[in-house]
Amino acid sequence: MLTAGESVVDRERTIQAATPFLKWAGGKGQLLAQYEPFFPTEPVRRYFEPFVGSGAVFFYLQARGLFERAHLSEVNAELITCYLAVRDHVDDLIAALREHAREHAEGGAAHYYAVRAWDRAPDWADAPLVQHAARMIYLNKTCYNGLWRVNSRGHFNVPMGRYRRPDILNEGRLRAASRALQGVEAAVAGFGGVLERAEAGDFVYCDPPYVPLSATANFTSYSAAPFGEDEQRRLAEVFAGLDRKGCRVMLSNSDTPLVRQLYRAFRIETVSARRNINSMRHKRGAVSEVVVLNY
Ligand SMILES: C[S@@+](CC[C@H](N)C(=O)[O-])C[C@H]1O[C@@H](n2cnc3c(N)ncnc32)[C@H](O)[C@@H]1O
Repeated sequence: MLTAGESVVDRERTIQAATPFLKWAGGKGQLLAQYEPFFPTEPVRRYFEPFVGSGAVFFYLQARGLFERAHLSEVNAELITCYLAVRDHVDDLIAALREHAREHAEGGAAHYYAVRAWDRAPDWADAPLVQHAARMIYLNKTCYNGLWRVNSRGHFNVPMGRYRRPDILNEGRLRAASRALQGVEAAVAGFGGVLERAEAGDFVYCDPPYVPLSATANFTSYSAAPFGEDEQRRLAEVFAGLDRKGCRVMLSNSDTPLVRQLYRAFRIETVSARRNINSMRHKRGAVSEVVVLNY
């Protein structure tokens, strides 16, 4: 819906400017140009993204007008809370982030570690949605490397990063994201649910936690729940099930023998990615990744 004084052209421009409002390990922003030839060319009715993360692919396809309706989901409840707050309470969220920015400028590490500890309080789950979302965005912009890592009790445990001027409140980006999210469903859910919900003709993009490149590789943990070989096998079954239902399915993963074996019945393309989040600088560099397609 247009707001007062806004033309269709303004709205188009704002939606096109929408990009992720969080930094996210495995974020696909840098790969969109390489993915472009693989996205469906014809508009689809519904789009499902069951490992949404920071939503780089969602925001991109939304600006392209690829779908009529979008269903975003994933297991990180704090992250989904951010989508809901950005979608439904952007003014309150901006006000809360303005307050964090002010307190961070005054208190620095003292404010960071006080906010980080909020999830240790027994009644934290009952705190208002906007408070949860503002905390997550604030921590994401000020923590080490924008990493989201929780311990086995679900407590966020990333130390503060070194930023001269952290981008705690980016009002334009939040408002653009809020508009892009109007009418979009965002829910906490494991990836398996997509198999029941998606129907023939829908487009599903899966970007799971990657199969590690080696047994000793540092595996990115996004939540207290692990994503190991069993989950990768289950996901391959979901992919095949979606294919049988007549959905169009696209999936990203690392270029490893397990991935190639799990998806050997489908088209496998490769792209070249730079690793973003890696504490060992000398290990940053280009790696081959796969894109699996059933079309
Ligand atoms: C590689 S990231 C997705 C990145 C995203 N494409 C982006 O551009 O930011 C994988 C995401 O899957 C989520 N996840 C982990 N296990 C899951 C599961 N069993 N079901 C659904 N989502 C899961 C993680 O929380 C994480 O955000």
